[in-house]
Amino acid sequence: MEVRVAAEGEIPEGGVKIVQSGSLFIGVYFIDGVYYAIEDRCSHDDGPLCEGLREGFEIECPRHGAHFDLRSGEALSLPATEGVDTFPVTVRDGDVFVEA
Ligand code: FES
Repeated sequence: MEVRVAAEGEIPEGGVKIVQSGSLFIGVYFIDGVYYAIEDRCSHDDGPLCEGLREGFEIECPRHGAHFDLRSGEALSLPATEGVDTFPVTVRDGDVFVEA
């Protein structure tokens, strides 16, 4: 299902916007001019991943501190041992969409 995220330019450089697609919550980041979408739910214990601190392409779960690569969803540190989903983002006619 395709969900409209924002107008182009609405998410500032380095920012994130959380959107809902069905029962999924997804964080859409805009970094160095590129959009990335990752599930806003930590694989360890369902923490709100996209509310965590970001450094480069790494985000830290605010609940217990696991790190993930927001480009791939890969878990980079314990206590998470499994990755989370990522989703394709497209820009069309001035709007940003995520396919989830
Ligand atoms: S819920 Fe994310 S590290 Fe535990």
